[in-house]
Amino acid sequence: MRQKLHSHLLLFLALGLLASCSTMQTSVRERQEFTKNWAFSLGENPQAKETNFNDNQWRKLNLPHDWSIEGQFSEKHPASYNGGALPGGIGWYRKTFTVSEADKDKLFFIYFDGVYHNSEVWVNGHYLGKRPNGYISFRYDLTPHLKFGQENVVAVKVDNSQQPNSRWYSGSGIYRNVWLVKTNPVHVAQYGTFVTTPEVSEQSAKVAVSTSINNPRQQAGKFSLQTLVLDAEGNTVAKTDAEKISLTNPATEVKQELTVTNPKLWSPEQPYLYRVVTLVQKDGNTIDNYETPLGIREFRFDAKEGFFLNGKPMKILGVCNHHDLGALGAAINVRALERQLEIMRGMGVNAIRTSHNPPAPELLDLCDRMGFIVMDEVFDMWKKSKTKFDYSQVWDEWHQQDLADFIKRDRNHPSVFIWSIGNEIPEQWGPEGTPIAKELAAIVKSLDPTRPITAGLNEPYPHNSIFKAGVLDLVGFNYHHQDFEKFPQTFPGQKFIATETTSALATRGHYDMPSDSIRRWPYKWDEKFVDGNKDLTVSAYDNVSTPWGSTHEETWKIMKKHPFLSGMFIWTGFDYLGEPTPYTFPARSSYFGVVDLAGIPKDTYYMYQSEWTDKPVLHIFPHWNWEPGKIVDVWAYYNNAEEVELFLNGKSLGTKKKQGDDLHVMWRLPFQPGTLRAVSRRNGQEVLTKEIKTAGAPAKIILEADRSQLKADGKDLSFVTVRIVDKDGNLVPRADNLVNFKLNGKATIAGVDNGLQTSMEPFKANYRSTFNGLALAIIQATEEADTVKLTATSEGLEPATVVIQVKE
Ligand code: GAL
Repeated sequence: MRQKLHSHLLLFLALGLLASCSTMQTSVRERQEFTKNWAFSLGENPQAKETNFNDNQWRKLNLPHDWSIEGQFSEKHPASYNGGALPGGIGWYRKTFTVSEADKDKLFFIYFDGVYHNSEVWVNGHYLGKRPNGYISFRYDLTPHLKFGQENVVAVKVDNSQQPNSRWYSGSGIYRNVWLVKTNPVHVAQYGTFVTTPEVSEQSAKVAVSTSINNPRQQAGKFSLQTLVLDAEGNTVAKTDAEKISLTNPATEVKQELTVTNPKLWSPEQPYLYRVVTLVQKDGNTIDNYETPLGIREFRFDAKEGFFLNGKPMKILGVCNHHDLGALGAAINVRALERQLEIMRGMGVNAIRTSHNPPAPELLDLCDRMGFIVMDEVFDMWKKSKTKFDYSQVWDEWHQQDLADFIKRDRNHPSVFIWSIGNEIPEQWGPEGTPIAKELAAIVKSLDPTRPITAGLNEPYPHNSIFKAGVLDLVGFNYHHQDFEKFPQTFPGQKFIATETTSALATRGHYDMPSDSIRRWPYKWDEKFVDGNKDLTVSAYDNVSTPWGSTHEETWKIMKKHPFLSGMFIWTGFDYLGEPTPYTFPARSSYFGVVDLAGIPKDTYYMYQSEWTDKPVLHIFPHWNWEPGKIVDVWAYYNNAEEVELFLNGKSLGTKKKQGDDLHVMWRLPFQPGTLRAVSRRNGQEVLTKEIKTAGAPAKIILEADRSQLKADGKDLSFVTVRIVDKDGNLVPRADNLVNFKLNGKATIAGVDNGLQTSMEPFKANYRSTFNGLALAIIQATEEADTVKLTATSEGLEPATVVIQVKE
């Protein structure tokens, strides 16, 4: 954040310098968060669109806001467990704001990053329009209806009442940011730049910039356009002259080219960012400035050798994620997204698939900055529905505009590498897949010819009608790992990407033996289903998957072998709300994550870490609290070592080495309480040691904040992990104690969770039961600095307190 402020300051100084060369004071675009002090009411309120409607009794809140996450779980909600068993409905939002008389010659636009869904917007009683798609970003021009120097009212109706309309939890409301943008009448259009790097080498990069400028009022004057490229420190490294342009049409496009010498290339290891600054001048004064991120990189997919970034081969190690942020619901929060990416980075992930819809723009900003490759996906269905009230209903009317807006919004992000035009589209099985795929690909290519197009095909064979359209640059495999190796024969000359893999299932900290018997588990909780647990837990040994998927190891073993397999996206990085695969209430969130809904890794996280990072890993599991005599399988994931020796109470249980393509080693032994100790060795030298002890009775609470300093910006978060330990500090592996939280100071508890897929406790609460010894409390800063104390108590346990400093 500090870096960002710093760079903005530099830009401001740069603009100031430019402005000082001209005669008049610069007045350029302003972009303000438009998220504070909204009034909200759940339920239909048709009068609320009127300016003079009295909303005094309505709840006051700041956006982003998701009302579904505030609800209670129930089987009766029409979204069902697939939608997270949380409520939908209709909600209204209103905001009163003033615009200054001095701004009466300006234009004002309201930008919505995403509203789920069917939003309708009014300003001062004038209808601005409807946007059915719940994930798309859109804007309206407020200018013609504004009262300058007076109060104005914007009203938004959100209708998520027709259910089901999603295969996962959608959230409801204005769940992403809203912006008020003020410009001069002549201004850079919405998504008005397109920056590409047609030639990249270590010596030099060509930067092609196309700029669209709007002049809706047909203002006359002498206009010019200048484009600068700034490096991360704010130094100008390339610029064009201020080129004279004619703006006689309402919209004008100008193409320019610049050269950056010795560019610093963007990559996951070094996500170096430049910025392109667009300056529009009128009669010598700057009347608009507009910034576009720029990452200079070159990549290609090769049919035989896979993916190359900046000339070097690289395996795409990706995860699919849905948009929800666990206990925070769909309401976007940058720190929560950043934490998710940090956790993914810790396991070695270098790529994200935005399954199955346009993401929050902040996710792409983070991926640009943190160095993740993004497969940006637009649709989960086309004209044929997957749920009764889904987007297929408005497909004919909206798909062209939604797709075009999506590409234009996201095409300047250096992190975006691949466009996906759809996931498991039902039309793939009939002839309709071909013309629609052609139509969509033509739209994409007309707006961005630089990136490959794919689609997640769960029928990944040449007869698939979407593939047959001949428009996919990458053949996207959803599952079918058994057929990966045949790819060069099945699809000669084509390029491969595994758009979706795995769909393994697990409940964190729960273990069913024997660990080496693999269960395929999609079935309903009925007579067909033989293998599941009555409490709907699923074993966290990597030994349960859906039948269409695989265990984590099964897919990765194949993927790692062949360079032509350019990479994969695991379903999923995190558990998400909805789509529990024992399709039964009270399960209400998914089991697919490598990490649980609270952000706590399951054991397979360390398998990937041992394979995907250079970090030394030795991870042993399960916990060591069993019935005496029970036969228990102990697994170890390790790297940077040749072997692991396991000891129980000081006695060696033998040394194991991974054989062939093994990704773990295992010991099978009768349980005896005590200490399990593993030692990994290389050349006879100890590399790492890990110990797990049989825990005694729960004795105390431990709180651990991921950050003990927050910014007083009303948004920043500290994720506090709650651990129940015995008197010696060992995690009690089955502890389910009810923990109460008390917060002292100016902050709020934004959510609580424990990662259990069947928990019926609400996410918005000041209490939570631990699950398998752990829980999470999310503390959110207000806009006031303070010393905040979170205290956790539980009957019979020693309490704990953690201190968080919230600073200006
Ligand atoms: C895929 C689908 C995902 C998810 C997953 C569960 O077929 O693309 O959205 O439903 O299955 O295994």
